[in-house]
Amino acid sequence: MGVSGKTEGAMSRRNLLTGCAALLAGGGIGSGLTAFAGSNPGAAEAPAGVPPLPWKWATLDPLEAGRRAYRLYIEKGAGCGTASYLSLLSLLQEKVGHPWTTLPEMLMSHAQAGYAGHGTLCGALGGVTTIINLATYDEKADTSRQIIDRLFWWYAEQEFPTDRFDDISSMPKQVKVKAQTPLCHSSVSSWTLAAGAEVTSKAKKERCAKVCGEVVFTVVNAGNEYFAGRWSPPVWKPSKQTEHCVQCHGPDDMWQTGEGMNHQQGHMECLLCHTDHTT
Ligand code: HEC
Ligand code: HEC
Repeated sequence: MGVSGKTEGAMSRRNLLTGCAALLAGGGIGSGLTAFAGSNPGAAEAPAGVPPLPWKWATLDPLEAGRRAYRLYIEKGAGCGTASYLSLLSLLQEKVGHPWTTLPEMLMSHAQAGYAGHGTLCGALGGVTTIINLATYDEKADTSRQIIDRLFWWYAEQEFPTDRFDDISSMPKQVKVKAQTPLCHSSVSSWTLAAGAEVTSKAKKERCAKVCGEVVFTVVNAGNEYFAGRWSPPVWKPSKQTEHCVQCHGPDDMWQTGEGMNHQQGHMECLLCHTDHTT
């Protein structure tokens, strides 16, 4: 044990991690996690040789980046988290070099299928948002959060897959279905039903590869716009129905203050999951 200067919080975190590890595997993994938990969890400094955030961006070609994501998914079978993250990372490694070269290729592999098959956040979004945060994080500004939040509303509104990558796809002109939320679950499940496909099918993989391509294409456009000084933070404009709900339950996240009860957090469409109890 013997980690000096740890707080009670760090201590219980340590115990929790040790406990989980014992549950999962015992032995080998357990000792690795214990070592991790004991290694000063509150430290803010970056490891030696890695500069503080934000890291330098370079103007990238959106179509090249999108195609790279598509190909990583199809040809390398990399999964959506890796396809979206690694397409951007590899381009930044080529154009900027250090410190992007310090990051491992498989950092976002766990994001696939909505994080480990759980159907939560779409892994394509998970992969790109890691890069967005590294390139735009600013302790005094909300930029990273605003870009990511806008990206998620955009995603929910899209009819996927777009036909932007049809020229390199063996399955062009696929059925398009609105994602509805940034969640893998609604995005994929409503598509498979409409397309008469299964989640294990080649058609679904083509579709998700194109989703990765489109997400990366859009993020590169936004990144280029932002770093050229042409980006202004958007204000959330909820649909009429959601606006009605957040009047009482809102506002909408922990950065806003307002008249409502302020006990819900989020920008997703309320009526996708709830019924309107006021009618
Ligand atoms: C006029 C104000 C008002 C509006 C508009 C409103 N709510 Fe509520 N809602 C309440 C109050 C008050 C409660 C009870 C809160 C409590 O028990 O603390 C509640 C409870 C709930 C609950 C928990 C209990 C339940 O009935 O399931 C949910 C979920 C909920 N609202 C969702 C919504 C959604 C979704 C909308 C929009 C379609 C909406 N509300 C619109 C005031 C409102
Ligand atoms: C992706 C599905 C989903 C969306 C979208 C969603 N919710 Fe929920 N919400 C849930 C689930 C699941 C729970 C927990 C179960 C429950 O209490 O209904 C919950 C809980 C709540 C509760 C607490 C209810 C209680 O009984 O304590 C409120 C209030 C609420 N949501 C309001 C909203 C509002 C307002 C929106 C839109 C801005 C929204 N939700 C969007 C799934 C969703």
